Amino acid sequence: MNVKGKVILSMLVVSTVIVVFWEYIHSPEGSLFWINPSRNPEVSGSSIQKGWWFPRWFNNGYQEEDEDVDEEKEQRKEDESKLKLSDWFNPFKRPEVVTMTDWKAPVVWEGTYNRAVLDDYYAKQKITVGLTVFAVGRYIEHYLEEFLTSANKHFMVGHRVIFYVMVDDVSRMPLIELGPLRSFKVFEVKPERRWQDVSMVRMKTIGEHIVAHIQREVDFLFCMDVDQVFQDEFGVETLGESVAQLQAWWYKADPDEFTYERRKESAAYIPFGEGDFYYHAAIFGGTPTQVLNITQECFKGILKDKKNDIEAQWHDESHLNKYFLLNKPTKILSPEYCWDYHIGLPADIKLVKMSWQTKEYNVVRNNV
Ligand SMILES: *[C@@H]1O[C@H](CO)[C@@H](O)[C@H](O)[C@H]1NC(C)=O
Repeated sequence: MNVKGKVILSMLVVSTVIVVFWEYIHSPEGSLFWINPSRNPEVSGSSIQKGWWFPRWFNNGYQEEDEDVDEEKEQRKEDESKLKLSDWFNPFKRPEVVTMTDWKAPVVWEGTYNRAVLDDYYAKQKITVGLTVFAVGRYIEHYLEEFLTSANKHFMVGHRVIFYVMVDDVSRMPLIELGPLRSFKVFEVKPERRWQDVSMVRMKTIGEHIVAHIQREVDFLFCMDVDQVFQDEFGVETLGESVAQLQAWWYKADPDEFTYERRKESAAYIPFGEGDFYYHAAIFGGTPTQVLNITQECFKGILKDKKNDIEAQWHDESHLNKYFLLNKPTKILSPEYCWDYHIGLPADIKLVKMSWQTKEYNVVRNNV
């Protein structure tokens, strides 16, 4: 071997020794004088490992953490491209109403949001929004067609939408021509004898459908009552992790006046002195994961009450209010999104997006 060869060989040996030594002092098992990375993820995640990619080539054990770093980077990139609240929401545009909760969730009122910015953002993400609606018995003839026709026109215009329609008789499903980007999925549900049970069992059914297919089909999901009609665009400004609707009759009231469940025996119990808002069960939504949790927790409460032979005053709505007290919604919709014209039209209500139908309870409900 010539001199040049010896030099190269010894350099190789030396560099191998250095690499092995570095590995030794930086590996979790051989932590001689270093912080144990498992007990200090921040140090192990960024400062050490990022700089020492070369030695890790020789050690498959680090492969996983390499991916962690990549994931972290990707996450950061995503965060950067993520819209900030201030990019689309201005709470000061409506100073006369509550536009921000104590926990910094936006309350979306007409005038506070920039829908164009959001439309652009969500169009790039090619989102799909789901909407579940239940109609059993006479609710099919009375409300479903108008609900779907108006939703086709006003719900998430320009974005892909799937309507999940749950009826007790598929043959009575109204025929409606949907616009592009819109589709139905119709399911048959077992009719319940009491209307109270219809609305409570709804929680269970929605949960089952989310697990079975909805979670893979949509990015956001809304659940709505059928006895209401879209009046104006119900757009992407309403999308969020978990979304609650202010009940039109109670948005100005004090929490102690709310018709929360006040009996301790019920799982929906909320004591006086507690509560943020009175939420309307006619509209709630969020990501499929969050909606699944909402429906599962509400149904658990309903079952617990059944076992204790108690029924919450406002059924599923009482349980929903309890849920949102414990798990604060990340976005709240103003009563403009679900208005009851029987109240009149106060100056607060600038643009009604959806309104209650006249409730013909004597016609549509089986009062047992
Ligand atoms: C689901 O609800 C439970 C009960 O309120 C809560 O403890 C839990 O944090 C929720 N999970 C998610 C993912 O929101």
